[in-house]
Order: sequence, then C-alpha cells, then structure tokens
Amino acid sequence: MCGIVGYIGKQNTKEILINGLKELEYRGYDSAGIAVLQDNKLDTFKATGKIKNLEEKLSNSTLNTQQLMPNIGIGHTRWATHGKPTELNAHPHLGEYSCVVHNGIIENYKDLKEELENVGYKFVSQTDTEIIVHLFEFYFDKNNNAKKAFIQTIKRLEGAYSILLITKKEPNKIFFIKHGSPLAIAKGNNDGEVLFASSDAPLIGLANDVVYLDDDICGIADENGIDFFNAIDSKPLTPTFETLPNSKQSAQKNGHRFFMEKEIYEQSDVVVESMLGRVNDENILFDEIDKGITDNINEIKICACGTSYHAGLTASYLFERLSKIRCSIEIASEFRYKEPLLTKDTLFVAISQSGETADTLEALKMAKNAGLKTLVVCNVDNSSMTRIADFTILTRAGIEKGVASTKAFSTQTVVLWMMALYFAKQKNVISNDVLKKEILTLKKVPDSLKVENKIHEKCVRLSKRYLHGHGFFFIGRDVFFPLALEGALKLKEISYLHAEGYPAGEMKHGPIALADPELFTIALMPQHLHYEKIKSNVEELSARDSTICAISPLDFELADDFIKTKKTDHYMLEFFEMLIALQLLSMEISIRLGNDVDMPRNLAKSVTVE
Ligand code: G6P
Repeated sequence: MCGIVGYIGKQNTKEILINGLKELEYRGYDSAGIAVLQDNKLDTFKATGKIKNLEEKLSNSTLNTQQLMPNIGIGHTRWATHGKPTELNAHPHLGEYSCVVHNGIIENYKDLKEELENVGYKFVSQTDTEIIVHLFEFYFDKNNNAKKAFIQTIKRLEGAYSILLITKKEPNKIFFIKHGSPLAIAKGNNDGEVLFASSDAPLIGLANDVVYLDDDICGIADENGIDFFNAIDSKPLTPTFETLPNSKQSAQKNGHRFFMEKEIYEQSDVVVESMLGRVNDENILFDEIDKGITDNINEIKICACGTSYHAGLTASYLFERLSKIRCSIEIASEFRYKEPLLTKDTLFVAISQSGETADTLEALKMAKNAGLKTLVVCNVDNSSMTRIADFTILTRAGIEKGVASTKAFSTQTVVLWMMALYFAKQKNVISNDVLKKEILTLKKVPDSLKVENKIHEKCVRLSKRYLHGHGFFFIGRDVFFPLALEGALKLKEISYLHAEGYPAGEMKHGPIALADPELFTIALMPQHLHYEKIKSNVEELSARDSTICAISPLDFELADDFIKTKKTDHYMLEFFEMLIALQLLSMEISIRLGNDVDMPRNLAKSVTVE
C-alpha cells in the first residue's frame, strides 16, 4: 500500500501535495517525495521516513510554487514492496524528461527492465515503478505522441497499479490510470483545478465533486478539464462525479465507523496485494527468499505473540500437512527463557505485524546467534526484525490502525499458506495437480473475505444476546482451533468479556464442567474438515445446556443461534469466511457495550517492552 496525490492549479502546489500526503500517511510512510513541473523545469524532492522529513527538506528549498500560471505536481508516500526504503527507491521516479508516481505492484517489471536495459536504459532504483517512466519515454521517443506513449506503456504492465505521470513534453498535463489500486479525481474549488489522490481524505475541503475511478479507466487532465478513456480500447468515457464526504476522519475510515471495521472490510483487497507477483497458475514464487531455503532443513520453528501467534499456529498445521516438514510453534515470551534446544537443521520463522514486538525480536536474535537460518513474516519493511532476519516476506497489509489486529492476521495466514505450498514444491512432496488445486483455492480467498451484508447484519443482531453470562468458549478443531483462539482474543480485546479458545475435542477434559445456559459456545463447524467430529463435541455441550452459536455453512439443528457462512469447496476458504464472522461479532458486541473499538483499554498496538 502506498499513497499518491496530484495537483493542477494555481494554489501553492507544494503545500497541497504535502498536506495531501499527510492524509495518506496511514497507507505507508517509509519514504515520501514530490515532483513539481513549472516553467518547463522538473524539480523532485524526496526523503526517507515520515512526511515531516520531506516537509523539512522542502522548507530549505527555494521552490516557489505560488504562481500565476498553473503548476503541475505529483507526490507519493511509500510502503516498500520492492527495494529498501531509501531515497533512491522513493517516488517520484525520473526519466530524462518525465516523472512518475505509482501505487501497486508491476508483476512483470523484471522482464520489462531487462528489455529496456538491452536498449540502453539505465536504472537507478531497485523498484518495479522505475520501468514505467523509462517505458513511457521509450515509446515517446518512437512516436513523439505522449497520449499514445502512455497507452502503449500501460498496455505492457501486468499487476495492480494506479499511476500519475507528468512530462516536460506536455508540461500542463497529468496522465493517469487506475488498474487494481485505488484512485480518485476531483475538480477543485478554484477554476481549472484538478486533484488526484489514492483516497478522498486529501481532497476534502479543496473540492466538492469526485470520481472514484473504476479499473482500466485512464486519461489526461489539464486546467481545461479531464479527458477520460478506456485503457483497453481507448474509447472516450464520461464517468459520473459524486459529492465528496465532508469529514476527513470518515474519509480516512472510508465511511466506516471505526478503523477496525474499515480494516475488516478491506481484507478482501489487501490479500490480493499479498498474493501479487507471488502466484501464477502453476506455482508459488517468492523472489525474496533463497530457492534452496529448505535444503538441509528438517524442522521449522515458529515464534510469535498475540494474533501473529495464532497465524503461526495455523501455519504449523499447513507446514506439516502440505510441506511435510516437522513444525513446532512457541509463544515468544516462553521460548526465550526455556533454554530451547536449537539445531542448525531448523528454519526459524518469526511472525510479527509490526516487526518490533520485544519478545519476538529477542527470540529471533537468539535463533540467529545460534546459527539458524531465519525468516520473518512481517508487515513493516525496515523494522527491527526485517533488518535482522536472513529473509523477509512482507505481508503487504498496509498500516493497521485498529489495535485489535484483523487484516494483519488474514494476510499473514495467506502468506504462510503460500509458504507451505512453496516449501512443498521445493521439497518435491506435492504433485503438480494438488498444487494447481491449492492455487485455484488461494485465488478464491479474496472472495471469501468479502463481507456479506447478511453476515454483518446477523452479527449486529446477535450482539444483543451475548452481553451477559459467565463467559465464552470458542471451539474448533485443526486449523479452526487457532481460529477459535483468534476469535476469543478479538472478543476479549475489545469487549472485555471473558472468552477462551479451546480445541473442541479437549472440552470434555475439564472445561465442559462449566457448561450451563450462561456459558456461550461459539462453535466453528466447517463442512470440509472433521465435520462429524466437531458436531459430536458440540452435541456434548448442548446436552449440558450450554448456549450454542454455530458458525457453519451447514444447518445444525441443535444451535441456539446460527451464523450461516457461504458454502465453499475447501476448508481454508471456510476458515476465511468464519474469520470475518468472528471479527464482526466481537466488533458489534464491543460497539453495543460502548467501548472504544479502535483503542481498547490497557492494550498497545506494538509492544516493545518485555
Ligand atoms: C500486541 C497487539 C496484538 C498483536 C501482538 C503481536 O499485543 O495488541 O494485536 O497481535 O502485539 O504483535 P506483532 O506486531 O508482533 O504481530
């Protein structure tokens, strides 16, 4: 996730771009940059870290962007995916006479880069984005037509992207395209003004009318207006402008009541980013790790805290089942002091949204010092863990603001599942047919993570019924056990009600003694994994009068309440369907209790103390 902004107009371009980027900082802030084109001079300014570093840099510059003539400017705040967060890798990326900002991932950038290098183009960054500007200039030099060159360029790009491009060859124009990643365009309040942004927060106060572009709409804007056309057949289009929301807070939350709600709803989109460039029809690809990573490896040890631990526990089932590698998982704070036996045939996998959690970080250091191969699955590039581990796989969830983790968990789980398939292929323990089927299923995850109104409404209704009682048990088997743990953790974190996650088959060894109508059991009952077994476990609880809320695609007559998930053809899709229901249920209970959903009491987003 990155954020992009653009401006055409006579106001202070520098200020408008910087203020816009600040509104988008939630989308990533490891570096930022702007480019301004005025008097046929193209100035770029970049800085690593937060927008305020760029602002400081600009305050020392002589750039004057308060002009009578309209200025053209574009800006970017980055969440690194290709290449470290350095100034060289920060956007905008420059060619000889043009400049580009991009949000998304160009999956075929390596091929395009090679092609351009072969005809003499020099690259200065490690990003996928830089190819766009060189490709544009390559086509422009051939046909001396910027519109044509822009269309030819975007036709070559595979992946997800929203792009703004400016060029001295057409110094009054911004060229734009949206394909996969978001882009909004607004007509400014002053004559001839046009504004661009990845979400509408930067536009509020500066414009009234906005178009949220659909995929494959591209165009050219200048002070006289905006030409929209279809990127596939170049036919002109007239999209409908709508009225902008009037509150920035709600714009940042995309109209949702809480960041947690927004993050639950955006999971379907962010997992697409987690998979971009890493999945084709037949294979899983991780350019960021050694092909031979599993050579001489007989065991995987996972270490994490909180929600990341639950993603790790899910993965421990998948690593053994799919990759046929022995796998153990430890809570980082326990691992550190148990005097663990570490052998060099173990791959150590740390999982952390932030990359800063003290216990996980120290556990990673221990493993590294013991000479183990280390890998971190992380959401924040350049965090302490990514700097220490031998390999990093980024989850690409974008900034998560709600303290109760949601999209971090789904992206971690998807990445870990992909890793299990990747390792299986490396170890030659999976047939091509099975791999293809798993990949087909993976591609359906975004659909399973889409929030259906019906499910959300059901959770709202159920939230009324579960405010009393002496506690909740979330139960499941296999990967649905870690999911039960995660469901219970979500509820605890934001509702402050007592909840436990338990393996369904273990209830009879103690906890069932608690069963009575005031004990609420949330039962995860997937169709495709041990359905009959979990059914008997739930029947045992029902016979002892526990109130049962079943989450399942199959009807279950003993349930007091029921959340019916969509039927799918794989247990991992059921996993994601149920995850959404669990997240929504705890959020709605928390809302009903009047709690602070995004910042629950006593908790912190990143725990950097032991
Ligand atoms: C804190 C957060 C949790 C998170 C845990 C681990 O407790 O409140 O939501 O799961 O830390 O964080 P990490 O960044 O390492 O995934």
